[in-house]
Amino acid sequence: MADQTAARVTLRYPDRIPVDDEVELRLVAEGDEVEIFRFTDANRAYLRQWLPWVDATLSAVDTRGFVERSLEQVRVLDGFQTRILYRGEFAGMIGYLYHDWKNLRTEMGYWLREDLQGRGVMTRAAKALTDFALANLGLNRVEIRAATDNRRSRAVPERLGFVQEGVLREAAWLNDRFIDLVVYARLRDDPAPPTGPRSL
Ligand SMILES: CC(C)(COP(=O)(O)OP(=O)(O)OC[C@H]1O[C@@H](n2cnc3c(N)ncnc32)[C@H](O)[C@@H]1OP(=O)(O)O)[C@@H](O)C(=O)NCCC(=O)NCCS
Repeated sequence: MADQTAARVTLRYPDRIPVDDEVELRLVAEGDEVEIFRFTDANRAYLRQWLPWVDATLSAVDTRGFVERSLEQVRVLDGFQTRILYRGEFAGMIGYLYHDWKNLRTEMGYWLREDLQGRGVMTRAAKALTDFALANLGLNRVEIRAATDNRRSRAVPERLGFVQEGVLREAAWLNDRFIDLVVYARLRDDPAPPTGPRSL
């Protein structure tokens, strides 16, 4: 465990993670709140169905708070948030909610512009961050949690060969009610997922 701590001290998160010839991840930076807020606002009705923070995000000042927390998260090596670029254009967000260096695990969260769904952008981005966590950061476990009724979100870890581990009953408060969350995880030693045009 001492070695893991030593490795962490020298760790620096990258500014960008290339995914393929269409998709790229860029670490959230100063000033990104304008763009992130613009697309949050434009996708408000769709995003609020599943994301509890949308209703409280009323201006770029609120998104500025998210950017500041993201910069602090990077400073203390507790994970990072990225803007997803699809063909050079803002497509959505994906990031690690935390990096638990003691237990070598992390959890990912994400959202995509409504009009860019259905192209595999999120599956590709989530695969890149899963691989980055397991291969580059030396973590052992990557988790994704999704509302039981959020079929599109659940399909992302399912496409990537994550194992469905269980249901956390009434684990989140969303739109005036408790919802159940399904927990998916991928471990470093899990077998590689099947490959094909619709699974990665
Ligand atoms: C959850 C969310 C990111 C899923 O978006 P999505 O577009 O369904 O996911 P992907 O970008 O991976 O695209 C998958 C689709 O593209 C297709 N696809 C096309 N090319 C593909 C490729 N190269 N690789 C994988 N899938 C591909 C898949 O078959 C799938 O199509 P289908 O929806 O007809 O089954 C999006 O619905 C969203 O942001 N929702 C609101 C916020 C939210 O719920 N966040 C998650 C909270 S836990």
